[in-house]
Amino acid sequence: MTNIYKGTIIYSVNRETLSVNEDSYLIVEDGFVKEITGILPEEYKTAEVTDYGKKLIIPAFSDLHIHAAQYVQRGIGMDKLLFDWLNDYTFPQESNFKDMTYAKTIYDQLVNDMIKHGTFHASLFTTIHYDASDYLFQKFNEKGLYGYIGKVNMDMNSPEFLCEDTEESLRETERFVKEHLGYRTVKPILTPRFAPTCSEKLIRGLGEIAGKYHVGLQTHLVESIAEKEWTLELFKNYRADGEIYEKNGLVQNGPVIFAHVIFPSELDKEILKKYHCVSVHCPEATNNIIAGIMPVHALQDEGLDVAIGTDVGGGSSVQVYRQIARAARLSKLKEFYEPEGNKQVLFANAFYMATK
Ligand code: GUN
Ligand code: FE
Repeated sequence: MTNIYKGTIIYSVNRETLSVNEDSYLIVEDGFVKEITGILPEEYKTAEVTDYGKKLIIPAFSDLHIHAAQYVQRGIGMDKLLFDWLNDYTFPQESNFKDMTYAKTIYDQLVNDMIKHGTFHASLFTTIHYDASDYLFQKFNEKGLYGYIGKVNMDMNSPEFLCEDTEESLRETERFVKEHLGYRTVKPILTPRFAPTCSEKLIRGLGEIAGKYHVGLQTHLVESIAEKEWTLELFKNYRADGEIYEKNGLVQNGPVIFAHVIFPSELDKEILKKYHCVSVHCPEATNNIIAGIMPVHALQDEGLDVAIGTDVGGGSSVQVYRQIARAARLSKLKEFYEPEGNKQVLFANAFYMATK
């Protein structure tokens, strides 16, 4: 099937270059872009064209770090730093997802909101709850969205109402992975919340699941200085946060998505480069939870892949295009106060991170 759209077509060629095509045609064959052209080829002369005039036609946004279950708390409770924010607001709120009526209401609203704002690709955290995670997975599939969906693991340093038994966490995760393989656009992904809430035994078990089913990983990595220090205190046999996942076989089997990566050590960066991990910049959340400002340009210059995320509910909306603007703004502050090694993120670069 062929669909043809006319308008101002914009897309990223690379992180320096935007291609802007005014009064052009986008030719789509069976859901894939075949061509962008100023002159409609002869073979399509009689085809129907949807004409958007001067309006912009852009690729859908990719939100590579979002907590589906925090949709209801987005933008509120921003008076605390990370650990207090989690303990006082986020964990009690996430525990509501044991109730399917609640979960369905929130997940339905979230998915509608994402579609409305042009996000068709995403990597999502849910909660520890199997049934609610499955519901979101099915919803994504039903809507034809592309995504990775991960049931969260947490078995320590978590309140009783949101803490799993290690063995059960592994059993439920393996079941989640097994029952969600083979879908065309949605895939399961392993999701240990972050090192401080996961025992070494849990991480090791997840590594075995990763190898057995060839699934990837998403988690938070060096988001704040306190988080980085606590992680290394808890995991004394490891030299870096990234090494916890590498040594336990979690970065070798599928896509690896690390949220934040604000304070990476040299070893973290080596691991991220070696396994082509994606680091996700969440400019608004980082600001709301006062974690730090990711050295986006410096990481890119060192060869790391950086994408953009809303980190709802650390971020206040699902609107990825607002994160494009925030990434540019925050990078100016970073460059101004820490000029060494830091450069502004220009619009083309931020758009690339949000769409490519
Ligand atoms: N670190 C562990 N859990 C979370 C979370 O829910 N949000 C953010 N921003 N950081 C985290
Ligand atoms: Fe997050």
